[in-house]
Amino acid sequence: MEQAQRSREKTTPGAGFGPPTLKRLTTRTRYAVQQTSRVALYKLHYEAMRRMNLRLAKDLPQSETPVPDGPVPGPRRMLEDIAQLFAQDLKSVEAGHYPMPRDGTMTPRALLATSLAFFRDVPKVARRRAEDAHQEVNEDREGFAGSLPRYYRQNFHFQTDGWLSEESARIYDFQVDVLFSGATGAMRRRALLPLSELVKRQDQRTIRYVDLACGTGGLLGPALSAFPRLKVIGVDLSEPYLGFARQRLRTPRASFVTAAAENLPFDDNSIDVISCVFLFHELPPKIRRLAFSEVARVLKPGGMFLFVDSLQTGDVPDYDGLLSLFPQLFHEPYYTSYLTEDFAAIGHDTGLRQVSAEPAFVSRVVRFVKDPDLTAAA
Ligand SMILES: C[S@@+](CC[C@H](N)C(=O)[O-])C[C@H]1O[C@@H](n2cnc3c(N)ncnc32)[C@H](O)[C@@H]1O
Repeated sequence: MEQAQRSREKTTPGAGFGPPTLKRLTTRTRYAVQQTSRVALYKLHYEAMRRMNLRLAKDLPQSETPVPDGPVPGPRRMLEDIAQLFAQDLKSVEAGHYPMPRDGTMTPRALLATSLAFFRDVPKVARRRAEDAHQEVNEDREGFAGSLPRYYRQNFHFQTDGWLSEESARIYDFQVDVLFSGATGAMRRRALLPLSELVKRQDQRTIRYVDLACGTGGLLGPALSAFPRLKVIGVDLSEPYLGFARQRLRTPRASFVTAAAENLPFDDNSIDVISCVFLFHELPPKIRRLAFSEVARVLKPGGMFLFVDSLQTGDVPDYDGLLSLFPQLFHEPYYTSYLTEDFAAIGHDTGLRQVSAEPAFVSRVVRFVKDPDLTAAA
């Protein structure tokens, strides 16, 4: 991973993109304006949230001050890494892997409404954090929530309603972008590259593609735009999140299934590609293994598993302390064990060979292939 990071460090925006033409200059300008304004928007929200939290803290029970276990990158280093991620993203746009991202472009009215909803939620999250309250979702077991796995029925990140309400789905993407300074979409899109390579070799209409734990459709939207004949299947345990994705994407090319990653409703050897973004750090170790086995079972031999999730300890050592802070600040009961999980080994044991792994800002992008030789041994 570190080597991948170092080689990426040589990438300066524009390097290797060829001589600038008017079209290219226009693309770069549009990209720069769009992404810079996103970063500014979410950084402003982050700063406002931080100040709000300081004020709220005076009236809340005092919680322990988080202590990092290792180095924490400063704001400048993080901005440099975001810029590097954007340079890669732009390069992929210019190479034709996917179109210019829209990244949740909102009307001013929708933006204002989402921003207000975000700020209305800040005091509730602060109160849960101060009281270490993360079981509200479990206490309220009316309706479909009662049938969901126990590990899932928690207020992950101390968020209101956990994964279990329309309001939570409505502000989820905004909250994540505040956390990642607007770089979430660019991290997700790293998973589109292998898909774009596959589409060059295989008629997209024949590809069976699943996004596992698709949430509100943050990756499915760009995938549908990039590959106009591809059909997609979104799988998630949250009905409200799937409902939001359905509304957002509104196309007959997208279908949605409420199901658990560890019990997939697909036949053996039936899927060409599975992507999965930001799921595995939220699963208990035992469930992670079951989910890998399920992915290996349903993929066709040679099928791809595209994994995007948080960096792990040692991927980019300068970030190790920041990673250790995350579960101290947010309710992330399985994150600490995630940090040292050996996914290459889990893949190997379940029939998935890891073929590449590289960092993308605070995420790791890993490509696995279902290897019939490993499957036979698994
Ligand atoms: C952090 S969100 C990531 C959502 C989306 N992939 C994204 O890029 O924003 C985690 C998602 O995983 C879903 N999830 C958690 N455990 C799951 C499981 N066992 N099976 C299926 N989905 C699960 C949640 O409902 C939620 O939508």
